[in-house]
Formats: sequence, structure tokens, C-alpha cells
Amino acid sequence: MGKIVSMTEIKQAAEFISAKITETPQVAIVLGSGLADFCDQISDQIEISYKDIPNFPISTAPGHKGRFVFGKLAGKPVIAMCGRFHFYEGYSMQEVVMPIWVLRQLGVETVIITNAAGGINREFEVGDLMLISDHIKLCAESPLCGVNKEEFGVRFNDMTHAYTPKLRELAKKEAYELSIPLREGVYGYMTGPSYETPAEIRMLDIVGADAVGMSTAPEVIAAAHAGLQVLGISCISNFAAGITDEPLTHDEVMEAGAVAVGSFNALLPKVIEKL
Ligand code: HPA
Repeated sequence: MGKIVSMTEIKQAAEFISAKITETPQVAIVLGSGLADFCDQISDQIEISYKDIPNFPISTAPGHKGRFVFGKLAGKPVIAMCGRFHFYEGYSMQEVVMPIWVLRQLGVETVIITNAAGGINREFEVGDLMLISDHIKLCAESPLCGVNKEEFGVRFNDMTHAYTPKLRELAKKEAYELSIPLREGVYGYMTGPSYETPAEIRMLDIVGADAVGMSTAPEVIAAAHAGLQVLGISCISNFAAGITDEPLTHDEVMEAGAVAVGSFNALLPKVIEKL
């Protein structure tokens, strides 16, 4: 099952961060591949490198800078995660979600979890933003396997409203007011690191996934278990394998992140302002 993260480790990490920041962040934003520029909008920044935080894993994926950025956005105290941990990097599921547990321990109430994803739904275009309404995780392992963290939530937690309905409504309203087209759909989680085969994408299409990616679902499971409100947003960075005949490259994913960045950077502060 890989490394288990204990409550003691979570508390030590949270205490370290707490001592560096000036108030409890109300909102956390987990930034996906190519979306780190979002941090430029945060004022009065305090940076905390993951490598300095006790018990914290270290991010290795290209395009991921490993740090928290605390500061103000739309008048609210926020904390952004530039760089996250993926299962395909060799971390255990519990290490992957440790930052979510640490944020919860810090007193964060809402997390906005973002990613780059391959579009499966044929109506999607590269550069689209997709509000995540739900996810499908075919990988058997859950970050909640092992002894339940009773301080955070119950053993068998509900996932019906994991992607908080009222936050989805808010995001749709704000996107409409900004004239930003916002798709909505189901995120299919695959572990990677290989991109999927065309047959796997056909399977995901049949079971009801609109987009595919290698993050987010484990973090949302941990967040929902711990009672956090979640908003999930995917930037459609490419057509998933086999939708077109083009081979997939990580560079393409990063570049398309840049296409969606304008809408993303405009929408998120509006949503945060209205929370
Ligand atoms: N598949 C999996 N993960 C991804 C993709 C994809 O096509 N694009 C961006 N992240």
C-alpha cells in the first residue's frame, strides 16, 4: 500500500506552515500543469517551499514548482499549491493527498482543485475549461485505505456531493457573467504516467467520462472525507488518445494550459470573491 501518513506528521507540517503565515487561509487552490502563473495574482505573498516542510513529499514532475504561496486574493486570505504530488511519481496515495490533510488541519474550508486533462467529449475544444461535476476512478487504491483518520471524517464517507453543488452553481454564474464558456463533465482518473491507449479512452467514453487526467480524484476523495467544500476545474489541454490520430506529448499539455490560462485567471478570482 506504500507509505501511510500519520496524524502526527500532518499536524507537524501544519504547525510549520501556520507559524509562517499571518492568518488562516479561507480558500486553497491546487494548481495543475501549466497553471502556476495564477499565483502572480496573489498579493502580499509568503512562499513556503515543500522541501522545508517537515514530513512533506517533494514534487518531481516537470512544470510543477513545489511551493505554497500564501497571500490575499479578492480580499480573502488564500493559499495556492504550485506543484502537487502524483501517484505515478512513486508516492503512495496517502502522500499524494497529504497536502489536502495539512490544509484541512490549517483550517481551510474550501479547496479549488485544478488540472490539465485530455478531452474525451467530442464537443470539447483544446483550451476549454471544464467544471468537474463528478469523477470516475478505476484504480483500486484509495488514499483512505488503512486506519480511518477519525479526526477528519467517517470510515465510509459519502461522495454524492463531493464536487460541492453550490460552488458549481457559483462558478457557472460567474463564468456566464464574464462570458467565459464553461463546459461541465465527469473527470476520469487514470494513474499514468503513460497517456491512455485509444482503447482505454473508448472505455472511459462508454462509462461516462468527459475528460481524463492523472490527478485530482485522490485529492477530492480526501477533501470530501474531511468535510471540505470542493470546486474542480479541468483545462482541456489536448484531445485524449485516439480522438485524433496525433500522438500526445507533455509539451503539448503545457502549451494548451497557456491557452486556457486567460479564462482560468479571470474566473477564479471572481469565484473566490463571491465565496
Ligand atoms: N491523459 C491523461 N492525463 C492528461 C491528459 C491525457 O490526455 N492530458 C493532460 N493530462
